[in-house]
Amino acid sequence: MKDDSIKLKRFDLRRYLVPINTAATQQLFTDCLIIGAGVAGLRAAIEAAGSGCEVVLISKKTLEDSNTWNAQGGIASVIGGDDSFASHIEDTLTTGCSINDREIVEQVVKDGPGLVKELLEWGAEFDKKQDGSISITLEGGHSHARIAHALGDNTGKAIAQALVNKVKQFDNITIIENYYTIDIVTDDDGKCLGAIGKTHKGMLEIIWAKTTILATGGAGRLYRETTNPEVATADGLAIAARAGAVLRDMEFMQFHPTTLYIAGASRALITETLRGEGAILRDVNNCAFMTEYHPDAELASRDIVSRAILQQMLKTNSTHVFLDIRHFDKDHFAKRFPLISEIVTSFDIDISKDLIPVRPSAHYMIGGIKTDRLGRTNIANLFACGEVASTGLHGANRLGSNSLLEGLVFGRIAGRTATGQSDPNGASLKKFRCDIPQSDRSRLDTVDVLNSLRSLMWRNVGITRLAKPLTEAQEIISFWQRYVLDKVFDSPAGWECQNMLTVCQMMAKAAEARTESRGVHFRGDFPETDDTKFKTHIEFA
Ligand code: SIN
Repeated sequence: MKDDSIKLKRFDLRRYLVPINTAATQQLFTDCLIIGAGVAGLRAAIEAAGSGCEVVLISKKTLEDSNTWNAQGGIASVIGGDDSFASHIEDTLTTGCSINDREIVEQVVKDGPGLVKELLEWGAEFDKKQDGSISITLEGGHSHARIAHALGDNTGKAIAQALVNKVKQFDNITIIENYYTIDIVTDDDGKCLGAIGKTHKGMLEIIWAKTTILATGGAGRLYRETTNPEVATADGLAIAARAGAVLRDMEFMQFHPTTLYIAGASRALITETLRGEGAILRDVNNCAFMTEYHPDAELASRDIVSRAILQQMLKTNSTHVFLDIRHFDKDHFAKRFPLISEIVTSFDIDISKDLIPVRPSAHYMIGGIKTDRLGRTNIANLFACGEVASTGLHGANRLGSNSLLEGLVFGRIAGRTATGQSDPNGASLKKFRCDIPQSDRSRLDTVDVLNSLRSLMWRNVGITRLAKPLTEAQEIISFWQRYVLDKVFDSPAGWECQNMLTVCQMMAKAAEARTESRGVHFRGDFPETDDTKFKTHIEFA
């Protein structure tokens, strides 16, 4: 296919964050190394192990620390009623604003029902209707109810648990938790040989692997306000960029309209399926405002609802709006949305009387490591799947609940391709040395840098973007990079800071380059979509 993408110059990045000397580093060998244990990494591990190869599956913290585990709403799939593949494909393409890869969309949608069935067989407790069929609900942008949910609003946990149980049935999968991956290691030809990381005991270790799959998840923690857990610090994107992988669509960060906004509460997601089932957005003056912004009101796409909320906050000079579910049956609510019920109750909110304060926050990184339809990156022996990858499914805007589906589909594909293309000469002991002079970081407070960075991203590279703040963001990040990226750290806090600065710079640069509005990328100074120039991707190549 003709490549008409816009190319931006990759930044000069030091190849590795730490010096590497195999003579002094503990080493491990495997056939397939999978970095990340959300839905995509878990599904990839099952597929790879099924072919008989040895798999090492790494989790940055515990298996419960992932965006997958926190997913509430559900998984989109054509399951019942008068829904059809054509309709799910069309909704995905319409929401994606003309830059999805149609072939990928068709594949993901068509694989959906089979993968949901497989999850059921593996023990995922999807909620059922009285007749025993899977219960489905609605989210914004879907023209049919097709969101399957489990344990009420604990869908991610139910899916992850089923996958983890399946993974544990394989003797040839080694799960390693609390392992921080610092970099993938490449040879002189740029071929991936595995990765270097820090074990839970604080030891540096190289894992030599015939194939490596990056499934490191999201990047919400780049923003002050986010639904994402602490682990979502964009590590995989920065690791890939340092190794020379092509990253694309970095301007497309999806903001979720409704995140709980209570002082002292973590910014918990308040699932879109609540709006799918009738929740109303009200401003601080009790006005239900969404119909002023879009005929689909509460069920308009997320970018539209997020911007509407922001505008209404500005108009009413308020820090938040409210979700009104006072008309919901309280008992039904507690059963259907047990997680949210528990959260709001812990803050003394009685849903039959009180409104739930919410505002938008960073939720899902649409851009990522460019892969082909087999999950391959441009680096030999390196694959990517899940949120860290850019497969072309989402285009410029992700349809709610399409991401768990994508993780399953491309986890399976990446696991299959990686084992099918395994390099017989890989995963052997190699001499490898890369020196970096030690640096003085005695005056550096990385927590302070990160707080400033996350606020800067929220202000300048947030829901509405403008040329001047985007340029200013790049200048400020460049300045911070000058004295952070040249340092050598020995713990995740420092490496995360370096990774986040690297990825934020790319996001600001891509957002500046796209002088139009498309999907989740809204330019206040270029509010129209410009198909003559931008009906394509922006790549760092
Ligand atoms: C939600 O439950 O609102 C989030 C689902 C998603 O982001 O796909």
